Amino acid sequence: MTDDMPLLRVAALSKSYGSRVGCADVSFDLWPGEVLAVVGESGSGKTTLLNCVSTRLMPTAGTVSYRARDGEWRDLYRMSEAERRFLMRTDWGFVHQNPADGLRMTVSAGANVGERLMAVGDRHYGNIRATAVDWLGRVEIAEDRVDDQPRAFSGGMRQRLQIARNLVTHPRLVFMDEPTGGLDVSVQARLLDLLRGLVADLGLAAIVVTHDLAVARLLSHRMMVMKDGKVVEHGLTDRVLDDPQAPYTQLLVSSILQV
Ligand SMILES: Nc1ncnc2c1ncn2[C@@H]1O[C@H](COP(=O)(O)OP(=O)(O)O)[C@@H](O)[C@H]1O
Ligand SMILES: [Mg+2]
Repeated sequence: MTDDMPLLRVAALSKSYGSRVGCADVSFDLWPGEVLAVVGESGSGKTTLLNCVSTRLMPTAGTVSYRARDGEWRDLYRMSEAERRFLMRTDWGFVHQNPADGLRMTVSAGANVGERLMAVGDRHYGNIRATAVDWLGRVEIAEDRVDDQPRAFSGGMRQRLQIARNLVTHPRLVFMDEPTGGLDVSVQARLLDLLRGLVADLGLAAIVVTHDLAVARLLSHRMMVMKDGKVVEHGLTDRVLDDPQAPYTQLLVSSILQV
């Protein structure tokens, strides 16, 4: 597996909802181990783009190609449903803003993590349990909570559990939609630190949608700024934030806009 080629190629992706533009003519490559932040105000098309790229939504036009573990490129919108589901289990993670959308709320924390291991073929109960406990520890959930259901957890704990559930199988690519969006500011900072460490340790590629420039600054290598469904600026995160070129990005960075 070589890292001198992108992992994902998005070309001229557009999605409209009837006459309304979701996203329009978006193109980018994502490299192995790279974190791309997609920023912009509410309604700018971030979620539409993420959902199209992750095949949760069919675009109106454009292509997304993914370089699978065998080195072959796959056209994501031409894959069979079985292939798509296989990729989702083995290669990808999806962290929802609302943890309840990404967890099973009425099974234990340990089972939420263990289930993902079973989905990739692990059958040894002792291993599954030990790995689940290890991952709960990595996201700072105490071992004595392993049998508790996430509905008994705080928002921050739920989000950490959702992250463990997604990362336990070592995906190559993780999609995140406002991963810290629903949390208190104090909880957000710790979660961001934790996420940053895990993404770096695992060498994950990720696309992180956020309206929060501080999240982009902390987590991402590159960022794309969207407005009205279009990309208005794209570059290395530090460059975009420290020396924004597009007038819209300049407004965003100077906090004149309330996003
Ligand atoms: N299911 C939908 N039906 C119709 N319009 C939608 C739908 N989802 C999003 N939109 C519209 O598409 C645009 C982009 O929305 P969205 O991708 O949710 O933006 P963001 O995530 O940046 O807030 C907005 O104008 C929004 O109203
Ligand atoms: Mg959104």
